Amino acid sequence: MGEYAMASHVLQTPPEGASSDWTIPQNWSAYTPEEHALWDVLYERQTKMLPSRVTPAFMEGLERLKLSDSGIPNFEELSERLHKLTGWQVVAVPGLVPDEVFFEHLANRRFVAGNFLRTPEQIDYLQEPDVFHDVFGHVPLLANPVFADYMQAYGMGGMKAIKHNAIHNLSRLYWYTVEFGLIRDGDDMKLYGAGIVSSRTESIFALDDKSPNRIGFDMKRVMQTRYRIDDFQQTYFVIDSFEDLLKQTIDTDFAPIYAQIANESEYEPADILPTDRVYNQGNQAWANRVTD
Ligand code: PHE
Ligand code: FE
Repeated sequence: MGEYAMASHVLQTPPEGASSDWTIPQNWSAYTPEEHALWDVLYERQTKMLPSRVTPAFMEGLERLKLSDSGIPNFEELSERLHKLTGWQVVAVPGLVPDEVFFEHLANRRFVAGNFLRTPEQIDYLQEPDVFHDVFGHVPLLANPVFADYMQAYGMGGMKAIKHNAIHNLSRLYWYTVEFGLIRDGDDMKLYGAGIVSSRTESIFALDDKSPNRIGFDMKRVMQTRYRIDDFQQTYFVIDSFEDLLKQTIDTDFAPIYAQIANESEYEPADILPTDRVYNQGNQAWANRVTD
């Protein structure tokens, strides 16, 4: 199982108590000792296995932001550190927010994070991204100047994609990079997607399992590829570097690509094309397993 299924029940107006930009106070003092302890358990589990698997920039981010301090981070303190490094802040929201709200925050270097924590029963799987996924998964790379610029550019690209009716295409770019991306590290591959690094099981599956395809990143191809929201990915796309990802995406005007792919067929999550740079052709054993 992937760590969470992106829920589709997004409200259309800010809930009671939220500002017009959908932010709410994190209300840090309301977390219980049990919640802080559960954060520590999640943190320990991931940081035990990640150092050899994740891009070094992620471990650097954890350290520079002092995320190793015990307990659920206080967003104000975290934002102060992050702002000094890259000009980003972390703000709390009640859950998933509408696309335009999300993009507007990113374009202004604000990362929106759920303030609630999963329950012990949900330790490995939950419906919506919680504070552990959002903060542990996403925030360390926002301390990296290049990745930080990519996230802001994505927010601006989002507003443009709305005008072109191409959110479904742009979302796939986010999914296959920010959430489930792999990155080359010499002859090796490393993790960087937040949906992987916040998940114990997918941190192993994405890198080690023989099931999924691992294919060189191609922007247009990615925007044409459907994804799984309810299970491990069937394909992971591998970027060469954050610099390359940023350069490719900001140097390209997506408008003509959106127009072009509106008339082309989409790819299924496990497809391999003749034009793909295939690092690993998966056997898809996991996706094809017999379940009851
Ligand atoms: N260049 C993209 C466009 O023209 C915007 C973008 C930048 C999207 C970076 C994603 C990441 O729409
Ligand atoms: Fe996420």
